[in-house]
Amino acid sequence: MIRFGPRQEAETSTSRSRQRWSRLVPLLALAGVVVLLSGCGSEVVQPYSSVAPQTDKAEDIQTLYKITFWAALIVFVGVQAAILYTALRFRRRNEDRPEQVHGSRKLEIAWTIIPAVILLVLFIPNAQVIFKHAAAEQGPDKFDVDVIGKQWWWEFRYRDIPADPNNPDAGPLVTANEALLPVGVDVVFHVTSNNVIHSFWVPQLSGKVDVIPGHDNPMQFVASTPGDYFGECAEFCGSAHAWMRFKVKIVPEENFDAWVGAWRTPPAFDANAETADVMEAPPAFGACLACHNITGTNARIAQQGMGVNSGYLDPQTGEVIRGPGPNLTLLACRDTIAAGVLENTPENLERWLKQTDQVKEGVYMPNYYTMDPGLTDEQVDELVTYLQSLKPADGCPDEDLLVGGQVAPAEVEATDPHPEQGEDPQ
Ligand code: CUA
Repeated sequence: MIRFGPRQEAETSTSRSRQRWSRLVPLLALAGVVVLLSGCGSEVVQPYSSVAPQTDKAEDIQTLYKITFWAALIVFVGVQAAILYTALRFRRRNEDRPEQVHGSRKLEIAWTIIPAVILLVLFIPNAQVIFKHAAAEQGPDKFDVDVIGKQWWWEFRYRDIPADPNNPDAGPLVTANEALLPVGVDVVFHVTSNNVIHSFWVPQLSGKVDVIPGHDNPMQFVASTPGDYFGECAEFCGSAHAWMRFKVKIVPEENFDAWVGAWRTPPAFDANAETADVMEAPPAFGACLACHNITGTNARIAQQGMGVNSGYLDPQTGEVIRGPGPNLTLLACRDTIAAGVLENTPENLERWLKQTDQVKEGVYMPNYYTMDPGLTDEQVDELVTYLQSLKPADGCPDEDLLVGGQVAPAEVEATDPHPEQGEDPQ
């Protein structure tokens, strides 16, 4: 007969806890390896890393991370040591009831003061950084750029750079998904939305900023290091939320001026190109003009509403600005199309036009190829040739930029969401 006394019970629970440990140890080891492999490789360029700061503001945020990390580590070690000490020092030695410390004034004061000190250690530097950068958002000599979160791409409007210096009514210079900045400027992105809430995030340049309709939320930093910086939408905003990527390209001042000059100049065409005048382009191109602008040509978007995504409220003037689609001026200089989904190549432009809704599910741009009657293969070819020609005669201003600023260059490619699909959906 088995007597199941206190002794056996203790043994069983010991062997159970041993079993638990033998299962936990490999798991912990695996977690350790993953952490080691995923982190810190100095050779690897991680353009979405928030621990590779390239501006004053990102540096300040990094400093806060470090303070928080070390404070947390000290608390962790302190708590573990206290647990260990207590477990050993006060372990059960006999059947006597231990001394009761309920209501101990010393302990209560200790565990009130210690967390208060920890909070102060975290609060003071955080408040300093918040006030410092809130102050930096004000003041003269700012390089102001309006950023409008769309579904699912980004529009950049350069407040102080007129599209046409001789025509004040022409509005500001506008571009989409890839913002150029001259190095050294003290930039303020004024972030807003014309639809739902997004989050504007370029990890190497600044923290996240909420993108809220009707609000002008500022993001300020000094564009100190030339480079190619990757950003993404950091708040779920609908079906193509993950395909709402963008770039901030910090370029030498002369490159920026060249870009502005090229932006204002009608594209240089091959004299023989049938598509030299957009209005004389294949009739199919008329469909593009309903939503897209190309500055320097006679392409102008239709000035009527296009449903939910048709315009946005200018936070300055309160006036509705029409223009549902990305501005395509100098499109051929952009690294990617469809907000970071595909690399900007002739093959991918063709694919984008023929498989629009498969490349980017949920996109508002209709698939004009599968439509009936739709674009013919020949018309798509003409459009691709035309779109590829939208660049300055003497090259794009952002060539040879290092991904992530001073970090060594690396191949960072746009991700293909549907690599297996065939070329012709029809
Ligand atoms: Cu925009 Cu998520």
